[in-house]
Amino acid sequence: MDILLIGAPGAGKGTQAEKLSQPFALRHVSSGDLFREAFEKHTELGAKAQSYVDLGELVPDEMTIPLVIRHIEALGGMQGVVLDGFPRTLAQAQALDTEFMRVKRQVDLAIYLKVSRGELVQRLSGRLFCNAYQHVYHTTFCPPRVADCCDLDGSSLYQRPDDTGEAVRRRQVIFFTQTIQILDYYRKQGKLIELDGNQRIEQVYMMLLSTLNAFREGKLGSKGSHITMLP
Ligand code: AP5
Ligand code: MG
Repeated sequence: MDILLIGAPGAGKGTQAEKLSQPFALRHVSSGDLFREAFEKHTELGAKAQSYVDLGELVPDEMTIPLVIRHIEALGGMQGVVLDGFPRTLAQAQALDTEFMRVKRQVDLAIYLKVSRGELVQRLSGRLFCNAYQHVYHTTFCPPRVADCCDLDGSSLYQRPDDTGEAVRRRQVIFFTQTIQILDYYRKQGKLIELDGNQRIEQVYMMLLSTLNAFREGKLGSKGSHITMLP
């Protein structure tokens, strides 16, 4: 099973992709994480991409597409993937289809986590990551047991630079004016499913679990351009 999580900055793509990866044996592929790894390793691509990410702009397709596609290729086909943050442009969506077709795979479901703008701002302003493995927390919605300390590995927590100032606004604008257009691409293919991402983390996770289980059991059907659960 190969699935996409689409959503605005702060919608919960990373949180849910991480949780889903275990029960369905999916590899979590986050394009944002791939860029941040490239910054840490001081690669040439990382140096070129950094200014875009810091400003909250999309990294150009010429850099993003090869980075993500090569990563998927390197994972091999033994396990499916849950893609988080890729594709964000039509060119990326088409490149992904071409790559999947080449290896006889396909995007099975494109899941849009729909979250209100006010909620998105609250989620990003309180988000924290651990320094060791990038485990995600939130000061209010998902606080660590001990302040400023990761529950899982004890490392200290930090705020992502693009979660502050103008970059937050820019990322939102880009999502709602540009990225949102790829929903149509998957709607036309009958692969788009929209979920209410405003619910609490566990509730969103339960909706995702039942959607993926229904897909696996062949219990998802399309009604017009919408996918629904069959009885
Ligand atoms: P990326 O890292 O993908 O950032 P993003 O899309 O802006 O998404 P976020 O990671 O901010 O949000 P999320 O949906 O993962 O939310 P999370 O689960 O953490 O990309 C960064 C940058 O890289 C881009 O701006 C761009 O420059 C570049 N880039 C990446 N991909 C690209 C591409 N394909 N093309 C071009 N450029 C690209 O949750 C947020 C917070 O809310 C957390 O604190 C969490 O604990 C909390 N939370 C989560 N769910 C809930 C809930 N249901 N209720 C309450 N709190 C919740
Ligand atoms: Mg994320």
